[in-house]
Amino acid sequence: MRNFSIIAHIDHGKSTLADRLIQICGVVSQRDFQNQFLDNLYLERERGITIKSQAITLPYTAEDGQTYHLNLIDTPGHVDFSYEVSRALNSCEGVLLVVDASQGVEAQTLANLYLAMEHDLNIIPVINKIDLPSADVEEARRQITEDLGLDGDEAIAISAKDNINIPAVLEAIVKELPPPVGDSDEKLQALIFDAQYDPYRGTVIYIRIKEGTLKPGEHIRFMHTEQEYKVEEVGLFGAKREAKPQLTAGEVGYVIAGVKNVADTKVGDTITHQKQPADKPLPGFTEIKPVVFSSIYPVSTDDYPELADAIDKLMLNDASLTAAKDSSGALGFGFRCGFLGLLHLEVVQERLEREFGLSLILTVPSVRYRIYTNDGEKMEVENPSYYPDPSTIDYCEEPYIRASIMMPERYIGSVMTLCLERRGENSNMTYPSPGRVDLSFELPLAEVIYDFYDKLKTVTQGYGSFDYDIIGYRRTDLARLDILVNSERVDALSSLVHKERARPRALHAVKKLRDTIPRQQFKIAIQGAIGSTIIARSTIGAFRKDVTSKCYGGDISRKRKLLEKQKAGKKRMKLVGNVPIPQKAFLAVLQSD
Ligand code: GTP
Repeated sequence: MRNFSIIAHIDHGKSTLADRLIQICGVVSQRDFQNQFLDNLYLERERGITIKSQAITLPYTAEDGQTYHLNLIDTPGHVDFSYEVSRALNSCEGVLLVVDASQGVEAQTLANLYLAMEHDLNIIPVINKIDLPSADVEEARRQITEDLGLDGDEAIAISAKDNINIPAVLEAIVKELPPPVGDSDEKLQALIFDAQYDPYRGTVIYIRIKEGTLKPGEHIRFMHTEQEYKVEEVGLFGAKREAKPQLTAGEVGYVIAGVKNVADTKVGDTITHQKQPADKPLPGFTEIKPVVFSSIYPVSTDDYPELADAIDKLMLNDASLTAAKDSSGALGFGFRCGFLGLLHLEVVQERLEREFGLSLILTVPSVRYRIYTNDGEKMEVENPSYYPDPSTIDYCEEPYIRASIMMPERYIGSVMTLCLERRGENSNMTYPSPGRVDLSFELPLAEVIYDFYDKLKTVTQGYGSFDYDIIGYRRTDLARLDILVNSERVDALSSLVHKERARPRALHAVKKLRDTIPRQQFKIAIQGAIGSTIIARSTIGAFRKDVTSKCYGGDISRKRKLLEKQKAGKKRMKLVGNVPIPQKAFLAVLQSD
């Protein structure tokens, strides 16, 4: 048996390589391949990104004539999910580290390598996409040796797409990775590395048995949450779930035990027996907490029940998504949701829109601030509505990250400027190889969640890659920026910002609203304010849009039709005071230029 994972920078070909391995090991027939795998196992990736870990057992007959069970654990490919990745890696003895032959080593290649090294895993470097005309295998070998400290000459050069040299990868897994250790007679310790929801069976828990044996009918306990269940089924992951009489030390498989909610299983928790429990849980458990927050409202207030239902369904399968009811004067009822990062937010938004057909308005994403009041109290605030009276505040703190940005040297100037604009500090630069820079910066998380990644991609013409770790809280000068329309505050447009950034943000919002709110018969004043201080303003002059002006002649029925249409359009607007604000105005404010 061998347990391994594939790690790579995004787009270097992790999933393509996984597909090839699955195909070569004959887990699914050629004929079924497309449907089965790309649909089941890679459902998430089809939508652009892996957000759950997956596992599959590949039977492989090696050159030595023996058949090995290779457990491939596929991990999410993004920093937002790095805790899940770390638990999945904890279930392995080794990894394939995939490097694109035309791109070389990038930020997440390094970040993933460090993660693998933290878990003492054996690392097999693989150079992919050697079929590309722009592939430079020698340069990739050199970077693997010099930047990663691995043996670049040993790296296996393949093309996952054109099926070149894949058997060498399988042989390396068997020869270079150690078999799992563990004693099936010991007290049970099984690591939970993911959980998925099955509408018929409830939660299917993905586990790696470290010690002991697990069988159906046994009573188990989750050591951190202290919940107890009875095991209904255990098994391995083949093309589908395959029930087995037992799982033993070293194996990767699943357990179904009548757990209703995915949220009741915590990734990283240890399963043991209720009788004769293990002395202590496996190390490394942390409760993951959301770091980015945004309120989600349906464009049409009638869609609230559908939104509620859709969020419930997503939460069944996504333990890291949080949601609480929220309401806004302008937008009606919605949910305040917490996400692991901006990408997680985007995935959730996209799924709500695509799978559930909803149109949504999301408020400006916010981080969680710490606010210390004059009477020594500490509050955590992520929703501008709960920002206390500024006169009661002693000081505030905001979360910071250490960002690692890799790029070709020629972009260094513009990236530095970008980071400094975003209040970056303590920069550090290294040159992992000639022509490439690894720039590290400490930045407030709030500055990164807005549109940093898009901007980075723009200024580096797509060559920059970005990775980050949260490093803690620091003091900040915080304020609540309000947007007023005819002196009335639009709660959905309020945001918590650093004072220095308030004015540009306010100017932007005021300008966008001026361009998107239709003229009325009266003047409309749009203002950005901190408390009672106005920091940006603009006015929309009075004017009645005469929709009938295009109608010559005296056809009154046609005129009436146009007026009716104008009325219906107005229904889709949100009234603030007596000013109708169209949905596109809310969206425009959230978009950067
Ligand atoms: P994420 O799941 O987004 O992290 O990406 P990934 O690392 O799994 O990459 P994926 O397998 O989706 O491949 C990214 C792109 O590279 C796809 O368009 C693949 O078709 C392409 N690709 C993968 N392997 C090869 C290869 O060997 N040669 C060439 N030319 N293209 C490849």
